[in-house]
Amino acid sequence: MPEIHVVQRDNRHLYQNYFDPYFRLRHDIYVKQRKWMALDRPDGREIDQFDTEDTVYLFCLDGGQLIGAMRAVPTLSPTLMSDIFPYLSIRGPIHRHDVYELSRVFVIPERRGEHAGPRIEMLLLTAIMEYGISIGLTGFSIVLESWWLPRFERCGWKAHPLGLPQMIDGMSVLAVLVDCDEATWKSLCRQIGLTSPTLTWHGLTRVNRQILPDISLLHSPTVQPAR
Ligand code: COA
Repeated sequence: MPEIHVVQRDNRHLYQNYFDPYFRLRHDIYVKQRKWMALDRPDGREIDQFDTEDTVYLFCLDGGQLIGAMRAVPTLSPTLMSDIFPYLSIRGPIHRHDVYELSRVFVIPERRGEHAGPRIEMLLLTAIMEYGISIGLTGFSIVLESWWLPRFERCGWKAHPLGLPQMIDGMSVLAVLVDCDEATWKSLCRQIGLTSPTLTWHGLTRVNRQILPDISLLHSPTVQPAR
């Protein structure tokens, strides 16, 4: 089973070997494959101003290989929404201690889709919800392409638009605020058959996660794991 690791300031040194492949993968995926040429850099790594010490990464590792990832930036720090796309949010960018901005979610091409074993993208969506609950978040802001909306709807992510979609570089893009709550997390766990929290907090202490999600309901006889 792939593992989802929380990587942040305090334990980043334990994952140092993963960062170069991670930034190269981002370049392959976003610049070469998706052709987001504004992110191109001559060194073949896709790194931007939101990759800072405050950024939290979820790394999905399988047998030691990085097969997917996502990043979360506290909205009290600069974010994509505050610095690049403020016009996407009618009431202005979100700056709240209980909301992190999600971006750069990807799965390597050979592990995408239903045929590739456990759905890595669903695992990441479940894991970030567990992370949010664990540190007391109530929401995630996201600047995303509108094709995500039906996907979120299908898996139970509750996304509230913050403004109208705009065409940016040929893509329909909007800003949303997604609820981070235990009900959503438990529903996701059931959908993918998880019966316990999935995150690996290697090298992190309880200071880094104040709240442990209550998984008792996952074991309740009235709740059946998804088949
Ligand atoms: N445009 C429109 N729809 C897309 C899309 C895109 N660029 N990428 C994925 N989808 C939708 C499609 O409905 C697709 O179904 P299809 O195969 O019938 O076209 C569906 O998502 C499934 O996508 P798939 O890539 O097979 O696998 P997945 O669900 O396991 O992974 C992602 C989804 C987004 C994680 C994966 O496609 C990925 O890593 N993409 C590159 C990184 C990226 O663009 N991330 C989003 C912006 S940060």
